[in-house]
Amino acid sequence: MKSYQIAVIPGDGTGPEVIREGLKVLSAVSRLEGFSLEFETYPYGGEHYLRTKEVLPNSALKEFQKKDVIYLGAIGHPEVKPGILERGILLKIRFDLDQYINLRPVKLYPGVWTPLKDKGPEEIDFVVVRENTEGLYVGKGRFKNKGTKKEIAIQESINSYKGVERCVRFAFAYTRKRNKEKKLTLCGKTNVLNYAHDLWQRVFNKVAKEYPDVTTDYAHVDATCMWMVKNPEWFDVVVTDNMFGDIITDLGAMIQGGMGIAAGGNLNPQGVSMFEPIGGSAPKYTGKNVINPLAAISAGQMMLEYLGETKAANRIENAIQFITQNKLKSLAAGKMGYSTTEVGDLVVKHLDGVR
Ligand code: IPM
Ligand code: MN
Repeated sequence: MKSYQIAVIPGDGTGPEVIREGLKVLSAVSRLEGFSLEFETYPYGGEHYLRTKEVLPNSALKEFQKKDVIYLGAIGHPEVKPGILERGILLKIRFDLDQYINLRPVKLYPGVWTPLKDKGPEEIDFVVVRENTEGLYVGKGRFKNKGTKKEIAIQESINSYKGVERCVRFAFAYTRKRNKEKKLTLCGKTNVLNYAHDLWQRVFNKVAKEYPDVTTDYAHVDATCMWMVKNPEWFDVVVTDNMFGDIITDLGAMIQGGMGIAAGGNLNPQGVSMFEPIGGSAPKYTGKNVINPLAAISAGQMMLEYLGETKAANRIENAIQFITQNKLKSLAAGKMGYSTTEVGDLVVKHLDGVR
């Protein structure tokens, strides 16, 4: 029987609650499809840091490297200064394991409320390919005259040919494989960012020649935000840099129904990838059994899809669609009409496709 080794980092806040439901669903679907999942849980996160002063040891990264994938809940703790856990855990894993793609599907499921009037599942179904290891996230820069009125803070965006090219290549290949409209939009800011996005545009144009079957398009990031609200149906796959990708994928999450449903993958196609709900640790809902676990369950679905367990992934997606359409009153925490654990149970119950 095929077996996969999975590192699980439940993390902070509601992370453990949603991961528990994700694991419940993953275990159930693996039994139905006849493969086995071996989970190893790691304690990293805010609580662990406050208790031990340890953020993420290199030994853990070495262990992750031996796994097939990583399944992450949420990182972030109200008593820990912003940046420590983000940089020390989440970004460290992304960077050190060279997870150079952040894949973010923006898909409105039937029955889910969207703030966009007159738009439905037909119109809201695209994927953002975000570069995940470079740009402003590299953390390069400096202060000059720090603490004085002459202070200048410089934050550099690092864009390497290699980094841009592998991201753009992934996006073209993904667009072809997705086979929806076969349209790839580059989202940038070529009218202002005269170095960084000059490189992006050149690389994009060059790789495009190898994909004559893929239609290309370009939109500045501000216009991208506008079109995502006004005409989301114009997008099939969008490729963009790390910072812009961070911003537009939160907008994407909102139009697909919010943080309760949005999931993402941090991919290293040659290495170990990590899947996560993108919603954060939601401290105020912690321990109440009210948070929506569907984003974590969707992250699990993406993980199985990535591992090649397509049938299992489809079972999960069908179950999610069934319950968003027929069961849940809302996707918002505390308003679903069901508890966190009940939503997990509902997904499990509908994995068999029997309605
Ligand atoms: C995300 C998150 C992270 C990011 C934060 C937590 C560092 O917002 O995954 O989009 O900015 O990448
Ligand atoms: Mn973000």
